[in-house]
Amino acid sequence: MAPEARIGDARAVDPKPASASVTIKHELVLPSDTNALGSAFGGSVMGWIDICAAITAQRHCASQVVTASIDALHFHAPIKVGMTAVLEARVNATFNHSLEIGVEVDAENCTTGERRHCCSALLTFTAIDESFRPRRVPPLLIESDEERARQAEAQERRAQRLASRDRLERK
Ligand SMILES: CC(C)(COP(=O)(O)OP(=O)(O)OC[C@H]1O[C@@H](n2cnc3c(N)ncnc32)[C@H](O)[C@@H]1OP(=O)(O)O)[C@@H](O)C(=O)NCCC(=O)NCCS
Repeated sequence: MAPEARIGDARAVDPKPASASVTIKHELVLPSDTNALGSAFGGSVMGWIDICAAITAQRHCASQVVTASIDALHFHAPIKVGMTAVLEARVNATFNHSLEIGVEVDAENCTTGERRHCCSALLTFTAIDESFRPRRVPPLLIESDEERARQAEAQERRAQRLASRDRLERK
């Protein structure tokens, strides 16, 4: 390690592949999680997504993280009571002190094995140190063309996201 390298400095750590921090989380949809239509309540699904994504961000950063923004959350199909929500979170791109995580949610009927894609989300987390200050995020080690494309798309979204944050902060 170079003498000037510090804990929390990206120079101090090797790049990490997205495959090392993928998180898969299962939630059985109980009546207490549902709305009047017998489908998973959107707020419950959002909570599961936030936690699944946060675990991936923590794994990649090897530090505490906070949710900085959720800039896309699409419910394509309902998740009915009795189904199992299967969430998968992975790092799309890393920036300086933040990283974008993509989460895909399927509904699985565990008795038949049938699965249906229900929800997609994009979240940005900021890595923080013990004093709650932003800290450097390890770079992403790209392992495939698909990951390269995902990273490029995330970098384009980053500019729009930060511009949108600045507009909202001025209100
Ligand atoms: C997120 C937070 C730490 C940013 O702190 P800050 O003092 O504004 O720090 P900075 O402006 O230097 O931003 C730090 C990093 O966060 C990113 N960031 C800050 N706000 C962001 C937003 N709204 N969307 C996306 N990224 C954001 C910045 O781009 C920067 O990352 P980069 O270096 O990779 O570009 C701070 O706003 C905060 O604590 N927010 C509350 C978080 C929270 O309570 N979440 C819910 C519970 S976990």
